[in-house]
Amino acid sequence: MNASPTDKNDNIPAATPIATALRRISSWVAIRSLAKRHRHRIAQHLLSLDEHDRYLRFGYPAADEQIKRYAMSIDFDRDEVLGIFNRKLELIAMAHLAYAPEPQRDGHPAMAEFGVSVLKHARARGFGARLFERAALHARNRGIDTLFIHALSENLPMLKIARDAGAKLERNGSEADAWLRLPPDTMTSHVGEALERHMAELDFQFKRHAHALDELIEGVGELKGQLEDSHNAANQ
Ligand SMILES: CC(C)(COP(=O)(O)OP(=O)(O)OC[C@H]1O[C@@H](n2cnc3c(N)ncnc32)[C@H](O)[C@@H]1OP(=O)(O)O)[C@@H](O)C(=O)NCCC(=O)NCCS
Repeated sequence: MNASPTDKNDNIPAATPIATALRRISSWVAIRSLAKRHRHRIAQHLLSLDEHDRYLRFGYPAADEQIKRYAMSIDFDRDEVLGIFNRKLELIAMAHLAYAPEPQRDGHPAMAEFGVSVLKHARARGFGARLFERAALHARNRGIDTLFIHALSENLPMLKIARDAGAKLERNGSEADAWLRLPPDTMTSHVGEALERHMAELDFQFKRHAHALDELIEGVGELKGQLEDSHNAANQ
């Protein structure tokens, strides 16, 4: 006998608090808040997108110069930029949450616009969706009530992420807009964001030390090889 309801296709209990918590833990991704010092990495990440991805990300096939200008012009005091690093400390995914300049228009809800990119080899692992979730949490905690996404209608992964999160979609020919209404912030949403930030920082420091250790081991290996070569040469 089942103690709890299950999903149709598997035997994982559906929507119990424990099942929800387990799903969240198993899909947890370290997302860091980026700062001015990351401009170069942000530019590098965006420059490595191919022409079609640049078109999807910016709405036009941005040239290298335009991307560099964009990276240099991000207002880190006003906006939130989120990033996911791999073990080699490469920025494999990033999102820009742009807050409309204050004051926002009277009678219109406070909005923030979301833009995201994930490197090809890191796609379909949920990074885009996690960045979207995290951006929504940040916006919510800033008193923003609507998250806005402008995408091309052909951008099915982006539209799927927005729809899955509950956004309202409006297609207009080749373009599409999505609006996600955010609930008001609570003590729990603030604690949740602070906790995420803290854990991501720990994860990054751990990766930094692991990376330094990898380099040290590689350096020792190289030195050993050189010593062996010179030893062999001296004995010939
Ligand atoms: C859009 C983008 C950020 C998605 O990143 P991602 O990490 O692959 O996204 P996720 O893995 O979180 O989710 C993608 C979802 O789209 C689905 N998807 C992928 N290709 C799809 C397609 N052709 N049709 C429908 N759904 C598709 C995936 O199955 C996944 O859904 P699931 O989680 O239910 O399986 C990435 O494709 C990208 O960087 N594109 C180029 C830049 C861009 O388009 N930016 C968005 C404009 S702001």
